[in-house]
Amino acid sequence: CGIVGYVGAQSALDVVIAGLKRLEYRGYDSAGVAVVADGELAATKKAGKLVNLEKQLVSHPLPPGSTGLGHTRWATHGGPTDANAHPHLDNTGRVAVVHNGIIENFAALRAELEDRGHRLDSETDTEVTAHLLAEEFDAAGDLAEAMRRVCRRLEGAFTLVAVHADVPDTVVGARRNSPLVVGVGEGENFLASDVAAFIAHTRSAIELGQDQVVELRRDGVTVTRFDGSPADVRAYHVDWDASAAEKGGYDYFMLKEIAEQPKAVADTLLGRIDASGSLTLDEVRIPASVLREVDKVVIVACGTAYHAGLIAKLAIEHWTRIPCETELASEFRYRDPILDQRTLVVAISQSGETMDTLMALRHAREQGARVLAICNTNGSTIPRESDAVLYTHAGPEVAVASTKAFLTQLVACYLVALYLGQVRGTKWGDEVGAVVRELSDIAGAVEAVLETMEPVRALARSLADKDTVLFLGRHVGYPVALEGALKLKELAYMHAEGFAAGELKHGPIALIEKDLPVVVVVPSPRGRSVLHDKIVSNIQEIRARGARTIVIAEEGDDAVVPYADHLVRIPATPTLLQPLVATVPLQVFACELATARGNEVDQPRNLAKSVTVE
Ligand code: G6P
Repeated sequence: CGIVGYVGAQSALDVVIAGLKRLEYRGYDSAGVAVVADGELAATKKAGKLVNLEKQLVSHPLPPGSTGLGHTRWATHGGPTDANAHPHLDNTGRVAVVHNGIIENFAALRAELEDRGHRLDSETDTEVTAHLLAEEFDAAGDLAEAMRRVCRRLEGAFTLVAVHADVPDTVVGARRNSPLVVGVGEGENFLASDVAAFIAHTRSAIELGQDQVVELRRDGVTVTRFDGSPADVRAYHVDWDASAAEKGGYDYFMLKEIAEQPKAVADTLLGRIDASGSLTLDEVRIPASVLREVDKVVIVACGTAYHAGLIAKLAIEHWTRIPCETELASEFRYRDPILDQRTLVVAISQSGETMDTLMALRHAREQGARVLAICNTNGSTIPRESDAVLYTHAGPEVAVASTKAFLTQLVACYLVALYLGQVRGTKWGDEVGAVVRELSDIAGAVEAVLETMEPVRALARSLADKDTVLFLGRHVGYPVALEGALKLKELAYMHAEGFAAGELKHGPIALIEKDLPVVVVVPSPRGRSVLHDKIVSNIQEIRARGARTIVIAEEGDDAVVPYADHLVRIPATPTLLQPLVATVPLQVFACELATARGNEVDQPRNLAKSVTVE
């Protein structure tokens, strides 16, 4: 969910709505706002996307006020209805609260409130907090103190922002787990889940830590811990501006983000490999002596980041010979994994907020493992709680389906693998030297792929009425196949599945029927040519059964030509780097298919970009 709060001299409604537009990627099931005007609270909320709320505000305007808050929701407790939308009010209608997370003890709190005569109207866990806050304010006479008292009673994950009609120039917020950032302005202050919501007004920000309460006034900001003691906070300057979070002439953020990939991968590499091929990763604060002792690497991540992790495993094991496993963060801690001080856990997350990944890393640290985060969002929770972080520098990614974040995660993973080898003095042959050289030029290769995408778009449009697309790959091509299938599910709502090409004959080949589109990611014929030859056989096997083959193969690989109904060429790269170029056509393919099917590209149904619940 996305949260915005504002206090200042501007129209709170305008600031809040503009902020919510920037946060819609965080959820778009319903939206709502509240303003305090002339000592009264006024609120409106609406199921569906933000435009529904905006229409409602035109037909039923709110009185002008300069203190307010807003919310855009990804439903957890209760469906996406008007009643379940945020903000939630208490029975007197003087308190409004918005919330991100899950309050685990809400049923007990609700029963307690009902016993005291409160009437609760929604199915959400949030509503109890509005009622509790109203009671505590009556007792304490101070909104921040009331918020602290409420927070001490809540269990689970919650980030809350609230206003009270009796304190017109104040907004309070509380943070546990999901993020909350203060934007510091002149005579005005902001609160939001992400700096994008206020970047048009100020680039000066304060990051709130775990279990902190903030009181926002026009002329200042006070941060305390839940127990009321003063809190340490970190102020920082946001190093990108509002244009980075705008579409910049593209129809969709996703198209812009696909196009930004050459620059994004170059930015991730910037300053990290010198002319002699030596790596400097200043942010990796884990001492070299510890990295030399590492005897196992475990990568945890979700969604697209997990696919980056699957590729990282191959690079880490091949280049460093350290055993490495990659696991879905949501499965990891529940299987009692074997971890100790010699285990390096790598947590990959674009947002730095994914609850499954956060919980996995907490579990790892409790067991004594060191955690290195690979993350795109400065100061987010996952890097804050890790021993070290390598930022991907992809710039803000707004489209829900991840593209440039994936490519930069891959680059960061390669850097980590190479760095591990470097500090451990791994003896490398020419292969790794070539990898380092090619990595430095990889932005050009990604650019070259982007320039040849028109036939891929035409092909995608021609498949708009298909029900199923399968993806096959081997070695690094297998995670690429999984990522291609995930993109198609997310965007085109088609049945899409990725398989290890060798596994096909053990079952999935039964799915092949006449004209079924099958995308095959072909490894380089150079390097490990045995892989290449095996996959060429796999293509023949499916074609013999009627599949329509869409073959992604390196320039100059002529062996595949006779079996490719459609051939997509990618530049030659070292085997392990191939995903950086092979993924790009699959992103373009999914985006175009979604458009052809009339789907919302940037905001696919049911999804949210950062999922802050487990
Ligand atoms: C959500 C998004 C996916 C993303 C995953 C992990 O499910 O819809 O696109 O890959 O979270 O996100 P993270 O921010 O941790 O990389």
